[in-house]
Amino acid sequence: MAVVGISCGHDAAVSIIDNGRLVCHFERERFQRHRHVAAMAPELIRTALEHTGISSDDIDLFCITTTQSSAYHTTNLDRLNFNYDWDTAELLGNNLFCKKSFDLLMKTNELRRQNDEKKHDFVYNCEDAYFPDEWVGEKSLAQFSEMTKRQIMATLNQKAVKNAQIQPIKVKFLGNTYPGIAVKHQLSHAAAAFYQSPFDSSFVFSHDNGDTLTHDGYKGVSFFGVKAMI
Ligand SMILES: [Fe+2]
Repeated sequence: MAVVGISCGHDAAVSIIDNGRLVCHFERERFQRHRHVAAMAPELIRTALEHTGISSDDIDLFCITTTQSSAYHTTNLDRLNFNYDWDTAELLGNNLFCKKSFDLLMKTNELRRQNDEKKHDFVYNCEDAYFPDEWVGEKSLAQFSEMTKRQIMATLNQKAVKNAQIQPIKVKFLGNTYPGIAVKHQLSHAAAAFYQSPFDSSFVFSHDNGDTLTHDGYKGVSFFGVKAMI
């Protein structure tokens, strides 16, 4: 199974995973010679595929993410584009909220492309984190120490929290259409930490900077990983 992973925000990068093994990881700045450059270029994906010997016909799945509330930027929407897969979403029981969230992260592509041409290299924003009400307030993170495992799991399993993190998409790449998954920023961080860790189960908290409104806020999301699931 060949999976193409794309990060479309600042430090845009592509990874190829072939039957569970990472076989290629290219950061766009190394090719474009512009530090931290954002937006994925379809040519870089093609270069990565050529490097691994995997043809575009062999791609089974795309997984995309982006930096904090940056759009799912691409440099050429005709050759690389993402659309919400509403048919799959309905099968999975997802809802309009997910589609709105995805569309929000798609809408500034044109602006990003213009900035890219002007060599404005990145945008720092922050996606809206989905804080359960219980976690917001004066005590904030201190509450975790007082919650039982059952309370934590019940909170993490809230439908709004689970559904918001992964969105089914269709990816158009060089004239072909592929199935895809859009993974939210903080879940990508958490997965990278958990799947590389030696632990079978772990509480994972991802928390980093950037805020759409203030540009100096910090936000985060908590997850729980068990074996091959997070
Ligand atoms: Fe981050």
